[in-house]
Amino acid sequence: MQTFLHGRDLIGDLDFSREEVETVLDVAFDLKRKRALNELTPILRDRVLAMLFFFSSTRTRGSFEAGMAHLGGHAAFIESRTTQISHGDTPKEIGEIFGRYFDGIAIRHVDWGIGNKYLNEVAKASRVPVLNMQCDVYHPFQCLADLMTIIEKKGRDLRRKKMVVSWAYAASYQKPISVPQSLVVQMPRFDMDVVLAHPPEFKLMPDVMDAAREQARKYNTSFTVTDSMEEAFKDADIVYAKSWGALLTTNDQEEGAKIIKKYESWITDEKKMKLAKPDAIYMHPLPADRNIEVTDAVIDGPQSVVYDEAENRMHAQEAVMALTMA
Ligand code: CP
Repeated sequence: MQTFLHGRDLIGDLDFSREEVETVLDVAFDLKRKRALNELTPILRDRVLAMLFFFSSTRTRGSFEAGMAHLGGHAAFIESRTTQISHGDTPKEIGEIFGRYFDGIAIRHVDWGIGNKYLNEVAKASRVPVLNMQCDVYHPFQCLADLMTIIEKKGRDLRRKKMVVSWAYAASYQKPISVPQSLVVQMPRFDMDVVLAHPPEFKLMPDVMDAAREQARKYNTSFTVTDSMEEAFKDADIVYAKSWGALLTTNDQEEGAKIIKKYESWITDEKKMKLAKPDAIYMHPLPADRNIEVTDAVIDGPQSVVYDEAENRMHAQEAVMALTMA
């Protein structure tokens, strides 16, 4: 077990080695078991986490806040709009000052071209770990929860399991690309063969694609890309289909919305799920645009594991906080 995680940041999925992620998962499963047995886990007694949000959240806020309480500490919920950030507090000042008040600084900042840079600037000035609650590039805690869920459903030996990371149609807004980007860099390290499916306008960042290919090479897995949702779903063990914005194609919201509209057929429905293996699981980080992105029959059906994913956010995050902040 690798235990050199104290004081470390988690901003990108590859910040922790595969062995370190395995340690996180071992601790997460242990904390989940302890919670089921009602055993107390006061690992972070009297420690305080700052949770700084530049964007709304249901699961991330709830799971970090509950997680800190389970570990005996406290999480301070801070919305950027209620701070002096818009009046001049810089990322350096946030890192310096919050680093003196708190034992960890968790940040959600998904603004395209800004969020990841902001987190790294705070981290540079902070004496305590900076944890990425989702930025414009990565959503590492979602990905850890997803990996934990896949292991629960498919076992530790994931070699030759086919995981589809697919774009899906959604009408609500141009969603961040951080979830698919985290998945394609992390999952090839855990022995899965990853297939990325998207219409041509929904490419991921070139650096992320390079990192995904490199991980697949290093771990002797495969990483391929297709523009057909049906092709991708064929014989899949894991279907992870969600919407993201055409952010690499256009910065313009209206133009982005027009592009998205061309691909209404990219919905996950029972017909498409039948192309996957009969025991395939359906995953989504939520929130989902129901009956637009995925049908009720799929998301509420027997193959869906979306509530386990949401629960595992809390266990995975508790594990990282315990290992980095104790
Ligand atoms: N999956 C996820 O990050 O959910 P929230 O946006 O509700 O936090």
